[in-house]
Amino acid sequence: MKKIIGIIGSPRKLGNCEIMAKEISMHLSVPHKLKLLRLSDFNILPCKGCYKCLGGKERCVLDDDFNLVLDSIVDADALILAVPTYFLGANSCLKRFIDRGLAFYAFAEKVWGKPAVGVGIAGIKGKEGSTLLDIENFFRVILAGNKYSTIVYGALPGEVFIDGKNKNIAVEMASALFGSSLQKKVTCCPVCGGDTFRFLEDNNVRCMLCSNSGTYVVREDNIVFEIDKSDHEFCSGSEEALKHREWLKGMVARFILQRKNLKKIRQAYMDEWVWIKPKIL
Ligand SMILES: Cc1cc2nc3c(=O)[nH]c(=O)nc-3n(C[C@H](O)[C@H](O)[C@H](O)COP(=O)(O)O)c2cc1C
Repeated sequence: MKKIIGIIGSPRKLGNCEIMAKEISMHLSVPHKLKLLRLSDFNILPCKGCYKCLGGKERCVLDDDFNLVLDSIVDADALILAVPTYFLGANSCLKRFIDRGLAFYAFAEKVWGKPAVGVGIAGIKGKEGSTLLDIENFFRVILAGNKYSTIVYGALPGEVFIDGKNKNIAVEMASALFGSSLQKKVTCCPVCGGDTFRFLEDNNVRCMLCSNSGTYVVREDNIVFEIDKSDHEFCSGSEEALKHREWLKGMVARFILQRKNLKKIRQAYMDEWVWIKPKIL
């Protein structure tokens, strides 16, 4: 019996994300048990950048629900993510979770390549902004294997299934989860499969998913990206992920080495400054 975790990135109960995730699970041909979690229900504090979670001995030091969600992901055999577009990007609960992603490196061996499918739901056709990129980035950060991710449309709760089209997509996503990955029908980054690019000067281009850059050419009316891997990959393979983990751990040694210089730089900004503070700290 496979353990599937359905991560719902929408605060709306029985909304489009929830029913889409449930629909995907209903079409899985493998025996499974689905456990759902609504990410916005969990208290996920902002990462404070202390790097302690990388040590392997200590877990994230923040006292909140992050480890509960992390453990559920580590423990699952596969993931279904459904997240709505809010203001041209995935709902912020996803980004808040991604920001805590350093903690996943301690579990790299367990999570690497865990099968995952992700669906972003936007209310207006074409107005999903960066939602697909955000989903793909989420899977890279948690070191999961993205079998297929896509965007579907539906604004009112339930509208995603107003016609049968999106149910077919749910069927496809279900078969991709434990089957072969579905390929995108558009030109993608040859390094990571991302389809979002920033165009730079002189025909240079950077993939917004893996951050690698290269050039593009137009061949027979098709755009072709020629992108090279950099020396510093962090999510493109289990070995690279482990290498990045070691590099991050080396930050502590680099900090100790540079501590005096850095202190000098920072001291210039230590005087009294006016801060607006929240009511309760
Ligand atoms: C605050 C807010 C911002 C939204 N921003 C966008 C947007 O930028 N683009 C879009 O297409 N839909 C946008 N929507 C619509 C939702 O993506 C859409 O209703 C979706 O189905 C919500 O999923 P849910 O039912 O699971 O909550 C927004 C909705 C809300 C509440």
